[in-house]
Amino acid sequence: MDRIALNDDLELSRLVYGMWRLGDAEDTSPEHVRAKIEACLDQGITTMDQADIYGGYMAEEILGNALTPELRDRIEIVTKCDIVAPAGRYESAKVKHYDTSRAHVVGSVEHSLRLMQTDRIDLLLIHRPDPLMDHEETGAALDEVVKSGKVRAVGVSNFRPWDWELLQSGMSTPLVTNQIEMSLLNHAPFTNGDVAFHQRQKQPLMAWSPLGGGALFAPENAALRTRLGEIAEEQGVDDAAVAVAWLLAHPARILPVMGTNNLDRIARIGDAAKVTMDRETWFDLYTHALGHEVP
Ligand SMILES: NC(=O)c1ccc[n+]([C@@H]2O[C@H](COP(=O)([O-])OP(=O)(O)OC[C@H]3O[C@@H](n4cnc5c(N)ncnc54)[C@H](OP(=O)(O)O)[C@@H]3O)[C@@H](O)[C@H]2O)c1
Repeated sequence: MDRIALNDDLELSRLVYGMWRLGDAEDTSPEHVRAKIEACLDQGITTMDQADIYGGYMAEEILGNALTPELRDRIEIVTKCDIVAPAGRYESAKVKHYDTSRAHVVGSVEHSLRLMQTDRIDLLLIHRPDPLMDHEETGAALDEVVKSGKVRAVGVSNFRPWDWELLQSGMSTPLVTNQIEMSLLNHAPFTNGDVAFHQRQKQPLMAWSPLGGGALFAPENAALRTRLGEIAEEQGVDDAAVAVAWLLAHPARILPVMGTNNLDRIARIGDAAKVTMDRETWFDLYTHALGHEVP
């Protein structure tokens, strides 16, 4: 499994396991969560993607309960903060909102460390752009959590280029990645400037919902799925592996974040790295995704 350096100190596995749905699984026991992580590690997938809000602010705790010190040292943990929804520890919030204040960012880091029973977060992302962000306050808070050693690197999620530039201008630590939605069903970032902005600055991107959150397998995408299935059969993998390989083939260095809760599918995530995706195959799939040939 390839590894991608985000800075001189931090590398992530090219394929990442996402834990948004961890709390939705029938089995959330420490043994089962460990089995999922071990299935990832067997394939060289060492990076686990979390957020404070996942599972109604419970998913970090589910992970923490499964981690032994030995297992903690074999993985990188990505987590996120700034979404405040009326659930769990924010049950009293009157309205769902974003909070990028220093108090919230620093407090979230403390919560995440405690719930995951760890002394460090490998990568902290601001989850959503906050229209009320004071970039100097948020930037200073991110510098502070890195300086304290509690966070090894910082980045963002769902930011447009102007949001990124604003935040970066208020801090000295370099932002290392932007986690955005990208898949055959959400390909706008390839043409709207989002990918180009980060590619130009040599910043790897993380792609959330690389299978469209499962929508790729819905009846309305039957034509695309049929083509994926044909390519998959030729290469001895499943449809999902081909869809993920479509992202891996892009020169921007995209790290897909996979969200399956199914242990058999988890054990096959790494197949995406075995797929050969030449230019014509890439455009063939893009054509099916667009519903028409490129102009
Ligand atoms: N930064 C953000 O704002 C943001 C937002 C959303 C997600 N994320 C991250 O991205 C990760 C991945 O998101 P995601 O879960 O939406 O990713 P995904 O991998 O696109 O979708 C996973 C879903 O697809 C289903 N699926 C997978 N393979 C399938 C198949 N062959 N046939 C039918 N269904 C299939 C899975 O069901 P099974 O479980 O049954 O396999 C699961 O429900 C999350 O865990 C989270 O870490 C980040």
